[in-house]
Amino acid sequence: MSGNGNDFKPGLEGVVAVETEIMEPDREGGMLRYRGVDVEPLIGKVPYENVWGLLVDDDINSKMPDPEPYEPAGLTGNAPSDLQAETARMSGVWNLGKLNEISNEQAREDLGRISAQMMSIVARSARIADAKTDDVPDEVVAQGKTAAEKFLLRWRGEADPRHAKAIETYWICTAEHGLNASTFTARVTASTGADCGAALSAAVGALSGPLHGGAPAYVKPMLDEVAATGDPEKWVRDTLEAGRRIMGFGHRVYRAEDPRSRILKRTARELGSPQIEIAERLEEAALAELARRHPERPLRTNVEYYSAVVLDVAEIPPPLAPAMFACSRVAGWSAHILEQKRTGRLFRPSARYVGPDERSLSLN
Ligand code: COA
Repeated sequence: MSGNGNDFKPGLEGVVAVETEIMEPDREGGMLRYRGVDVEPLIGKVPYENVWGLLVDDDINSKMPDPEPYEPAGLTGNAPSDLQAETARMSGVWNLGKLNEISNEQAREDLGRISAQMMSIVARSARIADAKTDDVPDEVVAQGKTAAEKFLLRWRGEADPRHAKAIETYWICTAEHGLNASTFTARVTASTGADCGAALSAAVGALSGPLHGGAPAYVKPMLDEVAATGDPEKWVRDTLEAGRRIMGFGHRVYRAEDPRSRILKRTARELGSPQIEIAERLEEAALAELARRHPERPLRTNVEYYSAVVLDVAEIPPPLAPAMFACSRVAGWSAHILEQKRTGRLFRPSARYVGPDERSLSLN
């Protein structure tokens, strides 16, 4: 490709664009740490909303607030698109100030109320996708003790404890993951001084693409297909021979096991997932065959694989997976927007021009 000089990295791979105190995954995997704190021991002890506090305020005793009463406008049941539109709309409804004009405290408050409302929007959109036209009353939702329970109550009118545990664990494991595409988008938008609704809505748009937030949606149908054949080894061979990829394996950053995958696998087992057995058999077959075909490049299980299995425990339909991911990532996005406001500078990278030399057009 022309213009691909030494200083040009397509996709900005390996380019350091910001310095952060929040987290950055290390290539060799191993631990998942938010602001230096190991996440694994927090699971089952601390609810998601306090992990939001750890990421945004560097304080595990601080938390994302409860959602306030809010009237969304014309939800469609397509959760990522409803979420993106409504998040941008909150800026207008709440008359949010521009990031370069408001205090850090005000920005933190705006991020808290939007984050909480974003979860509500996804729950309401999911309810519409279930063909339920009535809203669950606020008093019923308020009975939930945690953000995960409130989310389920807002969506289904009930909160099965197994479902709440599955969602909470998934949200905590995927709350933040360094400078991925949506987080970068949130920071770029925040760097212009746009308001918090604009920055979070832009992040949702970036996440809605299948290369970022959509992979769990492909894993469940794959597991169903493998279960139907009953022969994971053959399925893996056939898939790779047909030049297709196995969803949930490989990662741009990790060269070892993704620590999130380990935690989610354990959770799926603890929650008695009906898919865990076939998932483990397929994982074993896929890892062996991928190692045989790519001895030079470790291709290990990524977060999406066991995310799909855990989300299935909570009976989350695969098309809702990107919006579930957005719910968890409100913490990481909010933390980065605040960090960008405090320390950052307007993003304005350069492009190398590789178009035609000066020329004239013959206009008749
Ligand atoms: N199944 C089969 N082969 C895979 C593979 C997978 N899941 N992931 C990578 N490979 C192979 C590629 O075919 C390629 O082989 P080649 O050099 O013979 O063509 C090699 O490994 C390198 O692939 P590349 O696309 O350069 O790796 P990457 O680091 O840029 O890609 C992913 C990372 C995640 C995009 C990639 O591993 C993938 O597509 N995985 C499946 C989708 C998925 O799980 N996405 C969720 C990500 S969290």
